[in-house]
Amino acid sequence: MTNLQLDCDTSRLTVVDHPLVQHKMSVLRDKSTSTKDFRQLVTELSILEGYEALRDLPLEDVEVETPLEKMVGKRIAGKKLAIIPILRAGLGMVDGILSLAPSARVGHVGLYRDPVTHEPVEYYHKFPPYLDARTCIVVDPMLATGGSLVAAVQFLREAGAKDIRALTLVSCPEGIKTVLDSDPNVRLYTCAIDRQLNERAYILPGLGDAGDRVYGTR
Ligand code: PRP
Ligand code: URA
Repeated sequence: MTNLQLDCDTSRLTVVDHPLVQHKMSVLRDKSTSTKDFRQLVTELSILEGYEALRDLPLEDVEVETPLEKMVGKRIAGKKLAIIPILRAGLGMVDGILSLAPSARVGHVGLYRDPVTHEPVEYYHKFPPYLDARTCIVVDPMLATGGSLVAAVQFLREAGAKDIRALTLVSCPEGIKTVLDSDPNVRLYTCAIDRQLNERAYILPGLGDAGDRVYGTR
């Protein structure tokens, strides 16, 4: 679903490029956008992206009695979703997905990038039970080298997760390839594919440090 030449299995990549998403992404990137607005936009974008990522959730029949008669409707089948934010910035995307699936379970992966090696360093993870029976939605606004997302997917696989969908807002080609090559089944959704990484492994043009912008820590 992208015109970019990416040397990886792009059948598992979806770029969510609805006009509303593109508009909101431009405001999100703007360095003059306030912390309050940034946070709100991350939530709104997560809803729009999540709607797309949950498009093929399994359904089952349910009998409904309307005020006029009985009918057979549909409801989401199976166990509740698991939303897995990568701390810290991923937390900013949780409320948006929860507004679509209010009963979802929420796990956490704590990772930060070593400032010199850019390798992810784990400091925490805790997941809901029965991951093998849940659709797992990993959320993190930024996919740069891919190290953090690869580590999160690996933890989830080790915990038994089968259906893993990762949602990012801004990605770069290098990170996309790293993630899709690292796991044969993970599905990746992003709202934008940016040009490249700089020497500090920040995405260009990107939006800066997502965690700092969500929490106003810079
Ligand atoms: C950012 C971002 C991702 C990671 C992406 O987190 O939220 O988790 O970097 O980079 P990668 O693809 O090269 O691994 P950061 O480590 O800055 O932590 P924070 O969210 O706590 O600020
Ligand atoms: N993490 C961020 O927050 N921004 C980037 O550009 C890269 C990693």
